Amino acid sequence: MRDVRHELLTGLTTKPKYISPKYFYDEKGSALFEQITSLPEYYPTRTEKQILSNVVSQLDFDFTNATIVELGSGDASKISLIFNQLTDETLAGLTYFPVDISYSAIQQSITGLSCNFKLKSITGLVLDFNTQLHLIPKKPKRLFLFLGSTIGNFDETERDRFLKNLYNEMQPGDYLLLGLDRVKETAVLEKAYNDSKGVTERFNKNIMQVMNGILDTNFIPDDFAHKAFFNSELNRIEMHLVARKNIQITIDKGINISLKQGESIHTENSYKFTDKDIENMTQNSQLKIKQVFSDDKNWFSIIFFEKN
Ligand SMILES: C[S@@+](CC[C@H](N)C(=O)[O-])C[C@H]1O[C@@H](n2cnc3c(N)ncnc32)[C@H](O)[C@@H]1O
Repeated sequence: MRDVRHELLTGLTTKPKYISPKYFYDEKGSALFEQITSLPEYYPTRTEKQILSNVVSQLDFDFTNATIVELGSGDASKISLIFNQLTDETLAGLTYFPVDISYSAIQQSITGLSCNFKLKSITGLVLDFNTQLHLIPKKPKRLFLFLGSTIGNFDETERDRFLKNLYNEMQPGDYLLLGLDRVKETAVLEKAYNDSKGVTERFNKNIMQVMNGILDTNFIPDDFAHKAFFNSELNRIEMHLVARKNIQITIDKGINISLKQGESIHTENSYKFTDKDIENMTQNSQLKIKQVFSDDKNWFSIIFFEKN
C-alpha cells in the first residue's frame, strides 16, 4: 500500500500530472470497461474477437495438457472464444490462470468460466503484471495471452521492460499470443475513445473516485472534462482529465495540490502499432514471431511468439 500511495503522490505532484491506467480497474471501472468493449465505436474488441474466434485451427500450438496464462484477463470473454474451439477432451486437460490486478474481474470471470467449461483447473491470480510475473506458477507448455492491446498502455521503454521480464519468466516451450491495435485513420481512432453514450468519459472519470478511496482526496469528477485525442507524432491515443476551473485537491487531509483551469491529469496512453514498431519490439524482446493473424482491414493483429 505504501508503494501505491508513493506512486500516486508522485504522479499528482509532478508536472504534467498523471495517474497510471491500472487504477481505472476497481469494480466499477472493470464493469465500465466491459461496457466500452461492446460499443459500436469501439472497434478493437470486436475486431480482435473476430480474429480469435477461428484462430485455434490455424495456430501452431498443441493445446493438449497445456497451461494458459492470461495477463490482464478482464472479463475473460476472449479466452471463452478459444475454449469454444477446443474439444471436451482437450479442455479436460487444460490448466488456466487468469491474471489481473482487479479482484472483482478475477472473481466474476472464474465463476462464469467454471460454469461453462470443464477444465482440469482454473486458478485466478490477483497480481501486478509489471512487477509480479515471477509469482505465476511454472508449468510445462504455457501459452501466455496478452490481449486487448493492453501492451499499448506502455510507452516504448515500459513495453521493452515488460517483454524482457516476460521473456525471462518464460521457459523453453512457452509461447505468447499478443494482441496489438494498429495505426489507422485518426477519425476511426478518436471516435473509439469518444463514444456517443459517454461510457469512456465515465470510465475515465471513475479514476477520481478510485483516488478518493485510496488517498482520501476530494476529487469531484464533474469539475473535470474528458479529453481523448490521437497524438500522431507518438502514434498514441492520449486520455486526459482537464480541470474546468481552478481546483484545490487535498490529499490525506494534509497535502494540497492545485490545478489551474485547463490543466490536465494524463490518465492513459494507448499506443497504436506499425510494422516497424512490431519489428523493433520483437528484436528488443528476443522473442521470435511464429505467426501473425490480422483482420481484412489490418486494423488489429494478434502475434504468436515463441521463446527462442
Ligand atoms: C485494456 S483491459 C483488457 C482486458 C481484456 N484482456 C480484453 O482484452 O478485453 C486491461 C486489463 O488489464 C488489467 N490490468 C491493468 N493493469 C494491470 C496490471 N498492472 N497488472 C495486472 N492487470 C492489470 C485490467 O484490470 C484490465 O482487466
